[in-house]
Amino acid sequence: MEGYKAKVTVDEIVSMKKKSKITMLTAYDFTTATICDKAGVDVLLVGDSAGMVMLGYNTTTPVTIDEMMLFCKAVVRGSRHAMVVADMPFMSYQVDVTEAVRNACIFVKEAGVDAVKIEGGEEMVDTIRAIVRAGIPVMGHIGLKPQTAMLWQGYKVQGKCKESALQLVRDAKAIEKAGVYCIVLEKVVVEVAKIITDMVKVPTIGIGAGNVCDGQVLVIHDLLGLYEQMKPKFVKRYAELAQKMTKALISFKNDVMSERFPSDENVFHMDTNEHDKLMKELGDIKNE
Ligand code: KIV
Repeated sequence: MEGYKAKVTVDEIVSMKKKSKITMLTAYDFTTATICDKAGVDVLLVGDSAGMVMLGYNTTTPVTIDEMMLFCKAVVRGSRHAMVVADMPFMSYQVDVTEAVRNACIFVKEAGVDAVKIEGGEEMVDTIRAIVRAGIPVMGHIGLKPQTAMLWQGYKVQGKCKESALQLVRDAKAIEKAGVYCIVLEKVVVEVAKIITDMVKVPTIGIGAGNVCDGQVLVIHDLLGLYEQMKPKFVKRYAELAQKMTKALISFKNDVMSERFPSDENVFHMDTNEHDKLMKELGDIKNE
């Protein structure tokens, strides 16, 4: 098939470590997924950041499985090449291991995703091991853990002191041993991100962790300048789409008000013959 590229696999992601940087972006809908796929992005993360950028919650904590399922299904339909990863929402994997495995299975069987991501280090080892044993690839996520950040210390930079750095290293080693195929490092100081990246065999994917990681992930709304409520230091804006959209929408409104839209090229016409017959019949109706 022309332009067809096979689906990215777990083995490919693992073998990219130290060879070729991994690109991951969040996606929550069909259209965005098709565009990312065309651009050659390796992994599409249906992040629970959807709760903030798509649903307007203040944090990711309230997001439910049902909400995530809808986003996951749309992204799976839009991606032929990129691996699709479902971010398991808060409390879908923390209560007990059996429930975590069952919920991970729902994302794979019903939404059709290729892997799941869960936040947590040493405390998540049993859960990761059980999901992997069930046959589902797991992406780890340590450093800043947004699902619980606001319940504890807020969105702070991680690994700044020796104790915190050592805990991150222990977390990375523990989840690697439990079977994750790659690890997201969020808002981790570069020095510690480098130590972890050099120490583990699986790739690290950084967000606010520097270019020492094996790959990079960003929330697509941040990259495109669509979500204007905040701009973290680690975000690079590649476009200012919110401003462009506002400008386009104002033009639409002005065009409608001034009757410049729709113009003749946007409308449909009757055949002249049919129109003449209609006018004649309307005349007859009027005269009845
Ligand atoms: O939910 C999300 O978008 C994420 C990324 C920030 C890694 O977890």
